[in-house]
Amino acid sequence: MIEDISFKNYKKKSDIHGTSLYPAVMVAPVQKAILSNLISQGGIKTVFDPFHGSGTALYECGEIDINIHLIGCDINPLANLITKVKLQGIDKDFERDFDQLKKLLTQIKQGETYEFTNIKKWFKEDIIESLRILRTAIIQIQKDKSRLFFWYILCDIIRKYSNTRSSTYKLHIRTDDAINRIENSVIPDFLAAVTKSYPKFYNTFKNFTLFKCDIVDQMKQFEDNCFDITITSPPYGDNGTTVPYGQFSMLALLWIDNKDLELEGWELENYSIIDSKSIGGCQSSQNLSEYGLSLIQPYLDKICESKHKKVIRFFSDYFNVLEEICRVTNKYIVLTLGNRTVDRVKINLNHITKCFLENNNFYLVEVYERDIPNKRTPKKTSKVHNKPVESMNSEFVSIYRK
Ligand SMILES: C[S@@+](CC[C@H](N)C(=O)[O-])C[C@H]1O[C@@H](n2cnc3c(N)ncnc32)[C@H](O)[C@@H]1O
Repeated sequence: MIEDISFKNYKKKSDIHGTSLYPAVMVAPVQKAILSNLISQGGIKTVFDPFHGSGTALYECGEIDINIHLIGCDINPLANLITKVKLQGIDKDFERDFDQLKKLLTQIKQGETYEFTNIKKWFKEDIIESLRILRTAIIQIQKDKSRLFFWYILCDIIRKYSNTRSSTYKLHIRTDDAINRIENSVIPDFLAAVTKSYPKFYNTFKNFTLFKCDIVDQMKQFEDNCFDITITSPPYGDNGTTVPYGQFSMLALLWIDNKDLELEGWELENYSIIDSKSIGGCQSSQNLSEYGLSLIQPYLDKICESKHKKVIRFFSDYFNVLEEICRVTNKYIVLTLGNRTVDRVKINLNHITKCFLENNNFYLVEVYERDIPNKRTPKKTSKVHNKPVESMNSEFVSIYRK
């Protein structure tokens, strides 16, 4: 039992998780407190996060016990890169590579030509030129760990200097005035960010495996009871209408050298493909079991029919993954969940999940509620029937035992 999970004074900027931006991240000390408690009871050798995002839970677990095998999956290559860099860190001689990069940046007067679809929509000409110089220099760094770390730092710089608004995770073009006001400090900002962040990356973990793929397919590859703890925060709905992790990631992914990304091949085809292939996306199937349907029918009855499809698609994938999580988890499942609203109807994801897990031999040990801090989604979001809709404001962290 943990006394207080609010961690009101926690500042992400103070640790490794504040060195890169990713949507809807878990609060690190909450995950650490829960994991420490479970791990202290003994017998934990493997910890699994099927939707690892920026790798918060996996990293915190590695900090508690370096010998635990960390296994994670995410469909988004940016999440894969962020988590890999946090876990593998940098080598002791990193400063040599940093010196080389600084030298290259003084020598390269013009970056190699590099283009992608709509590059001029999303970046001003002078910003493109600076990013080309950085890209050309980073590609020349031989050591993988250092090069990947430089890409990692570049991601937030790309977003900051792009023409998309910082107020939303969606790609949404700024006004002409706002674009004209962007002052180019790309290279000095990048160097300052590297200088500030790299000391946090000397902590390196070796015992980890990351899968860059769709967890719905990947789950079938795992044996029964092969993970002692599954800890995760899954998406709460389809990315398109909840959090567009893919859109958020695209500009950075398009600048990074393909060779340094884990790609299945389809990820960069267009700006929305990662979201449409994610859980509940428009490419998901719609096959709910009778039991699954009985859990969401009370909500469907209150939601207009045109929105049924997206709810059913999400729960088809969600239940599919949950069922597999129950099969592969040996001891504990820890879930961070929020409720979401469709058509002004609050879908109690926490309750639905509890029923589903209990039906699959897991019982609830503990549940904590906490406010969602620093939300980028406003408290009230879009309007339905001319009335603003409340977005999620608190989340629940639940611990289940087999
Ligand atoms: C709530 S976020 C996880 C955030 C993470 N806990 C953190 O602290 O950064 C959910 C993640 O699920 C991933 N995701 C969505 N659909 C997926 C799928 N079908 N397979 C694997 N990952 C998926 C998204 O890319 C996103 O990174």
